[in-house]
Amino acid sequence: TIKYIKFKDNKMDKNKIIIFDTTLRDGEQSPGASMNTEEKIQIALQLERLGVDVMEAGFAAASPGDFDAINQIAKQVESIKVASLSRALERDIKAAADAIAPAKNRRIHTFIATSPIHMEHKLKMKPDEVIKRAVEAVQYAKSFVDDVEFSCEDAGRSDISFLKEICDAVVNAGAKTLNLPDTVGFRLPYEIADMVRIMSEYIGDRAIISVHNHNDLGLAVANTLASIKAGARQVECTINGLGERAGNAALEEIVMAIKTRSDEFSGLYTDIVTKEIYATSRLVASITGIEPQPNKAIVGKNAFAHESGIHQDGMLKCAQTYEIIKAEDIGAEKNALVLGKHSGRHAFKDKLVNLGFDLNDEEVNEAFSKFKLLCDKKKEIFDDDIRALVSDEIIKIPEIYTIETLSTSSCNSGHSSAAISIKFNGEIISDAALGNGTADAIFKVIDRISKVAGELKDYKVSAVSQGKDALAKVTVKVAFGPSEPPFIGHGLDIDTMMASAKAYVSALNSYLSMKK
Ligand code: KIV
Ligand code: ZN
Repeated sequence: TIKYIKFKDNKMDKNKIIIFDTTLRDGEQSPGASMNTEEKIQIALQLERLGVDVMEAGFAAASPGDFDAINQIAKQVESIKVASLSRALERDIKAAADAIAPAKNRRIHTFIATSPIHMEHKLKMKPDEVIKRAVEAVQYAKSFVDDVEFSCEDAGRSDISFLKEICDAVVNAGAKTLNLPDTVGFRLPYEIADMVRIMSEYIGDRAIISVHNHNDLGLAVANTLASIKAGARQVECTINGLGERAGNAALEEIVMAIKTRSDEFSGLYTDIVTKEIYATSRLVASITGIEPQPNKAIVGKNAFAHESGIHQDGMLKCAQTYEIIKAEDIGAEKNALVLGKHSGRHAFKDKLVNLGFDLNDEEVNEAFSKFKLLCDKKKEIFDDDIRALVSDEIIKIPEIYTIETLSTSSCNSGHSSAAISIKFNGEIISDAALGNGTADAIFKVIDRISKVAGELKDYKVSAVSQGKDALAKVTVKVAFGPSEPPFIGHGLDIDTMMASAKAYVSALNSYLSMKK
């Protein structure tokens, strides 16, 4: 079955809402959310399981790293259309075309700003020049791919007559999707709906109208839902609502609103496998280190927690009294106690399948060994522990340095110290250092051993599941040199300091493997 845009006799399926996921592009523009290629591939494969229609894998011209990540994703995903963003410039479009070339289904997404404020102050171009540039960009993109999307950046603050004019011109040049972003998240739902309605009626069947709403006023999802009612048939969104500044419209909220309120969105549907929503949200949170707020709709930790006695009583009598969505619908069954030290490989493998992981035998074996080690340290193993273990396992950072042993001592009135043994090129190197706090001492001794000085930009610790013996997940962001971009590292361990050391070494290994 074709899973991307469905055309029937050259007419689009009017009830299908195309889900265009931009977690790997706009989502990565969230402060602190940069990801390495391996991490992006894991997210891309999970987005494929989730069933998105189009995945914007990045902005190919932005950096060689972005290009490489898009290119690797294009080689690995099977059913999803892979898109790259590009400004309306030949060099950007060429980079986008080259990066997505290996994909079975490809799209180039090109854009230029159309609002008076952007055209005058940013582009310093007259409206006629903007139209000319847009048309040339679409024509050039069409020389590489059939499927070209054009975005009117800052459409939310553009004149509707100009939007009509430029959209007419790019559709004649071959654009199949017209995206109308509310780039600065300024509009209210009824205003966005008016814009979408006018443009949908004007464009008719000539192209699909898409929206891309930012959340600066907390209205991204509301604006997206209003746009669907007004005729938009593609929505651009991100997992957990990640994105530039206050973020983009959250995929999970849009999808569950359409599903839950099928009375309002009658006949409209998405192809999202909703049972994969929770796993996708967890993967993105774990890779970026950005946890959704606890009260975040659909995927927040408290989204299905009923605290008050009255609510609990109602739930016991009839779940629908206080529940409009079931945790199972998004694959977030209660964080049940799952397996213990007596569980065998078979039960473990079953659990992985149940949680949506598709691992080969070698990966299952490695994850199983880690699970057994964890069972010795932790009494109760929860679904989230298994998810964290496996995500840690499948993101393969080359192991240039590996920690063998760590011992620390801290003193609340003075310096703390750390002694570490690290394996490098088959040799064990040991050293010790003092620091302002234990984590600082650990990072200093790793710097000394590797002879690479890192500057810690961010450090986050979270508990993976519940209990005093919960696994600690540490995420660090480290810059190894003043002109170097920061690298993210993750560490998972029952001991927070060991998790910190692993996270720092993993950032170091990512950096060193990029330098090779
Ligand atoms: O917000 C925006 O306008 C964008 C476009 C480049 C699509 O992200
Ligand atoms: Zn955007």
